[in-house]
Amino acid sequence: MAKTPVTFSCNSCGATYNKWSGRCDGCGEWNTIQQDKGISAGPPSKTLGSKRGSAMVLTDLSTKEAPPPRSQSGIAELDRVLGGGLVAASAILVGGDPGIGKSTLLLQAAAHFARSGLKTIYVSGEEASAQVRMRAQRLGLADAPVKLAAETNLRDILTTLDAERPDLAIIDSIQTMWADNVESAPGSVSQVRASAHELTSFAKRSGVSVILVGHVTKDGQIAGPRVVEHMVDTVLYFEGERGHQFRILRAVKNRFGPADEIGVFEMTGQGLAEVTNPSAHFLSERGQPAAGSVVFAGIEGTRPVLCELQALVAPSPHSQARRTVVGWDSGRLAMILAVLEARCGIPFAGLDVYLNVAGGMKITEPAADLAVAAALLSAREDVALPAETVVFGEISLSGALRPATQTENRLKEAQKLGFTSAIAPAGGKPVGKNGITLNTMSDLTGFVGEIFGAG
Ligand code: TYD
Ligand code: MG
Repeated sequence: MAKTPVTFSCNSCGATYNKWSGRCDGCGEWNTIQQDKGISAGPPSKTLGSKRGSAMVLTDLSTKEAPPPRSQSGIAELDRVLGGGLVAASAILVGGDPGIGKSTLLLQAAAHFARSGLKTIYVSGEEASAQVRMRAQRLGLADAPVKLAAETNLRDILTTLDAERPDLAIIDSIQTMWADNVESAPGSVSQVRASAHELTSFAKRSGVSVILVGHVTKDGQIAGPRVVEHMVDTVLYFEGERGHQFRILRAVKNRFGPADEIGVFEMTGQGLAEVTNPSAHFLSERGQPAAGSVVFAGIEGTRPVLCELQALVAPSPHSQARRTVVGWDSGRLAMILAVLEARCGIPFAGLDVYLNVAGGMKITEPAADLAVAAALLSAREDVALPAETVVFGEISLSGALRPATQTENRLKEAQKLGFTSAIAPAGGKPVGKNGITLNTMSDLTGFVGEIFGAG
């Protein structure tokens, strides 16, 4: 039989090698390359040798399959992001910056699931049991039948979970877990990868749903390899601006529901409170119509969400003008500025540009383009947009406006909140009457001419 080849991999970046070296070519770190044990045993063609496997059973696509059983926590914002509740035997990763509120959210979720009859175990690798109990007391959850442990040894955790067979196990956090078959410190890439692998395969094997908490690095990745995101069924990000009371739980991947769904929460002294009408909350601090302020009618997942975009444009005292964005993509801002200059002849050179999405919301939809352009122009020209108007639409590099999806839903939400007119791209699906004056335009030049009388 062929000999199993020896492989090595880097603890820091996960690069694999067939011989040891002192420095990893992938990430440049020293002394991070170690021989693999068990987990990756080399390419299958070499390891399998000549032994024959058994034949797979193939099925049709039409095989009837019942939808997976789901359990609701009763926290509607969480259940929606999960795609309608927690699916049995699923593995979920909840990522977010340290201190954003992940442990608080999951302790609340654990208590709700436990109260609704699910056997729930919460394993904290970061806090002592007493600390978690104190938090539960402060959140008014001390009476919930959640089983608690403070542990980081993965072998002990798996043994306990296997014996207890709960419906849900929460592991806070994956970076603190320690698998004793991997020779590197907790939090290293190979530890995170091995622990996540063990826990997700345990979920599939045993039918226990597992929620893993993960810290996110500065550049927005879950600290550890991206492979953790591939292993789990669902990846949720818990995000928000420090100093703002809003927190948003966003599904970025979901095998059991729509991605891009969001749940909105408000941070309070008693923990996270659901925000069932986010548009009203995001717009609640809006004052009189002012130059630079535009209301964007967006869609987050299956739900329309209105929020305010604020722009400030001022002559720059610096040799290189500033572009500062909070809550939106800075590359996309540069694109809109370039289109305004190239297609409409409106230069922003020598001007500092600041763009902010009010309330700590993060927008990822391209349909915000037109609202951003409107805010920038409104700030630059010092002209406020007509009152009670919402804006949405995607801008292409040619300056043409592309119709957005779900126009009808956006308009309905705007009307519900007292808006009377909307500016949107021409084309797309016709919409029914709903009390909103829809002002459609086909390109950015037309928009600039009509709204700002320039172009
Ligand atoms: P925590 O849940 O510990 O954050 P993470 O697990 O993501 O690191 O929350 C950080 C702090 O914020 C903690 O001291 C509790 C406090 N907090 C509240 O007071 N109210 C809230 O609603 C939330 C979410 C957090
Ligand atoms: Mg925590």
